[in-house]
Amino acid sequence: MSALTDIKFRNPLSAIERGSRDSLLTQSLREGPLNWSYDSEYPLVLSPEGNSTSWCAFLDDQLIGHANLWPRTLQHTSNHKSLEIGLIGNVATHEKFRGQGHMRSLIHQLAQIAEKQGLHALVLWSDLSQFYQNLGFRSIGREWRLTFSRTDLKVGTGIVKMEVNSLTEAELSSMLASRPMLEWGINRTTDEFRALLGIPETLLFVRRQGAKIISWVVIGKGTDMQAIIHEWGASSPNELLANIQTIICDYNARSLTLLVPGSLNQQWVTLLKHRATDIEEHPMAMGMPLGSKGELAMNALAKSFIWGLDSI
Ligand SMILES: CC(C)(COP(=O)(O)OP(=O)(O)OC[C@H]1O[C@@H](n2cnc3c(N)ncnc32)[C@H](O)[C@@H]1OP(=O)(O)O)[C@@H](O)C(=O)NCCC(=O)NCCS
Repeated sequence: MSALTDIKFRNPLSAIERGSRDSLLTQSLREGPLNWSYDSEYPLVLSPEGNSTSWCAFLDDQLIGHANLWPRTLQHTSNHKSLEIGLIGNVATHEKFRGQGHMRSLIHQLAQIAEKQGLHALVLWSDLSQFYQNLGFRSIGREWRLTFSRTDLKVGTGIVKMEVNSLTEAELSSMLASRPMLEWGINRTTDEFRALLGIPETLLFVRRQGAKIISWVVIGKGTDMQAIIHEWGASSPNELLANIQTIICDYNARSLTLLVPGSLNQQWVTLLKHRATDIEEHPMAMGMPLGSKGELAMNALAKSFIWGLDSI
């Protein structure tokens, strides 16, 4: 067994090291071979440009663990206050080195790096809640997962699948602005939005009135979120519901699940829940406060929603 002090913790130094990292992540986090490269599912944090967010644990020259730490700005929507937080993802220990305390040590060191970077909380998504609770994380916020099945209702809003390349920067900007307004949200540039919409198996559907985009939904993201609408913009619950039914009919889907922020306007939630065939309530994410503003950041996160394309 290796001593934890022998482990060097750093960003990858070359394309070869990034390749070993992506093999470790594919073997640890995917059930079989992929039809695309693993890093294309995470274009902002696993690309060479995102190198500083990628933290590898090496024993001599062997890569034994990895986690991303992605600094993001949480912005209050009306009073210009902001808080820096770090999103954690792509967490894996090499099979041969599991159960030896490496991930505990890696997350502990990431928390120290995050504090030095001025981040006030770490945030992640995982089914391994016990594992992360042991490391100091707790549930934050909540989300509804509402499933809609095919109905006999004859609808056809004209929402259609669209390639991100055909959208202008102004259109992407208006789409970001048309997501439901919550008290806090994570900043995202249009360039980042474009890159994220380019993730394999990410389906964007857009409804226009004349030339103007009036509503949209995003389904799927690489291997994740199949048949799940994890980002959307619409002017009313009925507009959104009609779009969902249209997509179910036009693409012959059995059902679609919509992710809804727990802090969304209650009138919207009531209307959406009324038409859902299955309703689940979950924590939005898990978080760990850091430093003196840690609890402030945790409270802000509880009133925010981290949309699907931001989660890593
Ligand atoms: C989950 C994973 C990252 C843990 O890494 P690891 O290096 O084996 O973890 P550690 O040895 O540092 O374990 C830390 C603690 O968590 C516990 N733990 C480890 N795996 C666990 C699991 N799957 N569920 C619950 N607790 C777990 C350990 O017993 C240990 O507890 P202790 O300190 O009280 O003894 C590793 O098993 C892995 O890569 N799994 C496959 C990929 C994956 O699931 N990644 C997480 C996606 S969010």
